[in-house]
Amino acid sequence: MLVTLEGIDGSGKTTVWEALRDARCDGYTFTHEPTDSWYGEAVRRSEAEVNADPLAELFLFTADHADHLSRVVEPALARGDVVISDRYSDSRFAYQGVALDGVVDRPMEYVRGIHQPWTRPPDVTLFFDVDPETGAARAGATNKFEQVEFLSRVRENYEQLAEYEPERFVRIDATQSPEAVLADAEDVLDRVLAAE
Ligand code: TMP
Repeated sequence: MLVTLEGIDGSGKTTVWEALRDARCDGYTFTHEPTDSWYGEAVRRSEAEVNADPLAELFLFTADHADHLSRVVEPALARGDVVISDRYSDSRFAYQGVALDGVVDRPMEYVRGIHQPWTRPPDVTLFFDVDPETGAARAGATNKFEQVEFLSRVRENYEQLAEYEPERFVRIDATQSPEAVLADAEDVLDRVLAAE
């Protein structure tokens, strides 16, 4: 089973991912995007570049995803592991769906179309939902993606994705205390694993 954690910057999902990783060992693979590979490093360089070409950036993120899939995710699923990824393809749909506005028509559909023929969709996605003001403040607004205006559009894209696939997305109220957010995430995870 492939479980992904998604949300805007400052939603607290990485804190949850770390707590889950510390609590669950055998039979789990914990991973993230961008990855730590050289593809992931290229992505982080691009992120730090205010004037990076958004289409070039999309393909860097997508190259990192392709490598992540074949090197980490698919082998782990083949072993029978539960894979828990901090960000995955929905991050591209939501973020590059905004960044490519004015570059291509219907950007989110374009990015989804690029992935569709070869990616492995998640089975469950925990969507950590927080308002963009709180998210940007928590994230420190240190890079081009962490601005309120940008994040509010990213959040709208996540909402659209959740509407497309309501059975895959589980919304978690990420404005709660970190303990309450973690407890909700644990509940959802236990429930979906028990139902497997
Ligand atoms: P992180 O803060 O969760 O490590 O993610 C890094 C940043 O990259 C975050 O602002 C979200 C953004 N991002 C994209 O724009 N597209 C993607 O495909 C991924 C994985 C992350």
